[in-house]
Formats: sequence, structure tokens, C-alpha cells
Amino acid sequence: MPSYEDVLAEVLIDEGTLQARIAELAKEVSEDYRDNEALLLVCILRGGVPFLVDLSRRLTVPHMMDFMAVSSYGSGARESDGEVRVTLDLQMNVRGKDVLLVEDIVDSGNTIASVLEILQTRQPATLKVCALLDKAERREAVVPIHYRGFVIPNKFVFGYGLDLDEYYRNLPFVGVVDLEKYQPRRSPA
Ligand code: PRP
Repeated sequence: MPSYEDVLAEVLIDEGTLQARIAELAKEVSEDYRDNEALLLVCILRGGVPFLVDLSRRLTVPHMMDFMAVSSYGSGARESDGEVRVTLDLQMNVRGKDVLLVEDIVDSGNTIASVLEILQTRQPATLKVCALLDKAERREAVVPIHYRGFVIPNKFVFGYGLDLDEYYRNLPFVGVVDLEKYQPRRSPA
């Protein structure tokens, strides 16, 4: 894997801008859930991890967290019909809890649409979505995003949870891949 500097076309959202927006989102979520008894943040692995951690640290309301992982059906993952399979399920029972799904990016919307459908059957008290990035141009499924960090253009992005062939999720900013210098093996989110 080349160094990220060698494949970075531009920094799309720098660390300061990301963290400032996450602080705003955390304030909004904390206000909205101040009277709720059982807020549960559900992180969809793996891309959502950095955002979950930074958001959670800034929340001023008590909350729990749990994790789930899903994968698309079919071999051409991204070109599948949108259904997802749960590969790692939550440990907690969501029934009666105020569930907030925490995602790094909503792209086609298929992941969130399927996860919402799955979790809704488990009868949470409320079910909402908090997504850091919204690649709105690529949307296929109509999905609610109650808390949205940034709308971004349809570019191949990496960093801050988003991987470049599994690397660089740790970068503190969101960058755009220079496709003349690096051809990812895996399609973007
Ligand atoms: C990414 C991202 C979302 C999903 C969004 O996950 O974290 O879960 O894709 O895409 P969609 O709106 O088109 O469904 P990915 O499947 O790449 O797994 P990862 O988080 O482990 O990288």
C-alpha cells in the first residue's frame, strides 16, 4: 500500500472542520435525547467506528453502544439489489430503546435501508439515523437521515473510517483518491 500522501488528490474535509461539525451534531443529539431513558448508539462496522467514538465522547446524555456488521448479497457487492445480510448481530436487545444508527457514509442508501428494516421489526421505542457523510447523488433507496454531517460530491473518498482497500481508516480527515495514481481494488462506499 502506498503512503496516503502519494494517492491523495485533495483533502475534502479537514480535521478541524470534521470535529467542529461532530461537536454540533453531538449537541443536537444531546438536546433531542435529553429526556430519553435508554439511548443506544448502533454502529455499523467497520467504517462507522471513528465517527462513533468522536460523537460518543461529545454527547452529554447517558448512552449505550453496540455494533453490527452487514454485507451485501451477491458477488458484485455494490451492484447487488440492495439487500444486506447481517454478519455480526447486536448483543443488546433493542426493544423499547431509543436507537440511533451511526454511519460514516450513506451512499446508495441500501445498507441503512436494510438495517432500518431489520431493526424496526425488533420494536425499538424510536429509530433514527446519524450519518457523517451523505453522497446524495448516488442514492437509490429513500432513507431518512435525521442527523447529517456533510453532503459530499460523488468522488472516491477515504479516511476517517472510510477505507482505501482496507487501509487508512485512521486518517483524521476525509480525502479524495487520485485515481491516476491509485486504482482501488474495491469500489467505494
Ligand atoms: C460502507 C459504509 C456504509 C455503506 C454505505 O460500508 O460504511 O455502511 O458502505 O453504502 P450504501 O449506502 O451504498 O449501502 P462498507 O460496506 O464499505 O463496509 P466497511 O464499513 O467495513 O468499509
